Amino acid sequence: MNKILLNGDSKIELKLLKEGSIDLLATDPPYGISFMGKDWDKVLPDVDIWKECYRVLKPGSFIAVMSSPRSDVLYRMIKDLEDAGFDMSFSPILWTYHTGFPKASDTSKMIEKRGLDGTKYEGSKLGFQPKPAVEHIIIGMKPHGQKSYIDNVLNFEELPDNVKRTYPFLQTPKPSKKEKDLGMTGEEKERAITNQNKKCLKCDKWELSGTNESCGCDKPDYKHAKSKNNHPTTKPVKLMSYIITLFTREGDWVLDPFMGSGTTGVASKLLDRNFVGIEMTPEYIDIAEQRLSVSRQDLVKYFKGVIKEEQTKLDI
Ligand SMILES: C[S@@+](CC[C@H](N)C(=O)[O-])C[C@H]1O[C@@H](n2cnc3c(N)ncnc32)[C@H](O)[C@@H]1O
Repeated sequence: MNKILLNGDSKIELKLLKEGSIDLLATDPPYGISFMGKDWDKVLPDVDIWKECYRVLKPGSFIAVMSSPRSDVLYRMIKDLEDAGFDMSFSPILWTYHTGFPKASDTSKMIEKRGLDGTKYEGSKLGFQPKPAVEHIIIGMKPHGQKSYIDNVLNFEELPDNVKRTYPFLQTPKPSKKEKDLGMTGEEKERAITNQNKKCLKCDKWELSGTNESCGCDKPDYKHAKSKNNHPTTKPVKLMSYIITLFTREGDWVLDPFMGSGTTGVASKLLDRNFVGIEMTPEYIDIAEQRLSVSRQDLVKYFKGVIKEEQTKLDI
């Protein structure tokens, strides 16, 4: 597997890639809903990033872009992709995971928190959001500019070997802690542990997150602590493997300009594809590098069911 991991803003880093060099865009971008208060999720990706993705994709290549099922997010994401030039006339794939919780607040309690009498509102709920049990995977295509798919095949030599298929949904749980941490055995780098409590192995004292106070040792020894994948939105490898299998073949190039902890890269390695990942947060690049350091042989062993199952489904 060839892999290129770039640390920076996709708006800039994508310019390094050659026009028409990528076979599939598979990504899980920010949804613009400030998930868990994260700054990187405050706004949807700039349309210029999607335009750069369009430039680097081969004509006729597919895009698989994850989105919250929230109507406002979904609508804007699809509109931005269309504005960037993609053909959006495809059905989405739905990922269902079952584990989300519906939201609502008790009106009477909210009123009582303000020191008022809420009795007459007992039983009423505010701020309802239905159970979030699916995410959309928006499917689109860089138009091939030919009269038909056949003309496209006949007129281009370097074509992604993909076929339109219509699998409507995939049911798979969110990744387990074990799956997320696979490969996370490296030494923690200082910048990778600033958000966690850490223990000095010399004196056994804990340094609490955010305090920046040293334990008092001359050279605190944190380096044997096992690092963890603390990315809040790591996707299941099985889900990304499904998408990659659907739209590419071995040796193709897969791009993820919002790589996070590198799940698209792990699935690309598992399935013998090449991978370009871009991520602006250094801490997440460290995590992706560690996850991608697992040998393909070990990945195949760990995800045995994934490869076999996906390939059987697609009749490859
Ligand atoms: C939803 S997460 C992706 C998680 C990923 N699917 C995984 O399994 O770990 C989106 C990521 O995009 C990154 N990001 C947001 N805007 C970016 C930009 N303009 N350029 C590069 N990375 C960006 C964030 O730091 C975040 O890690």
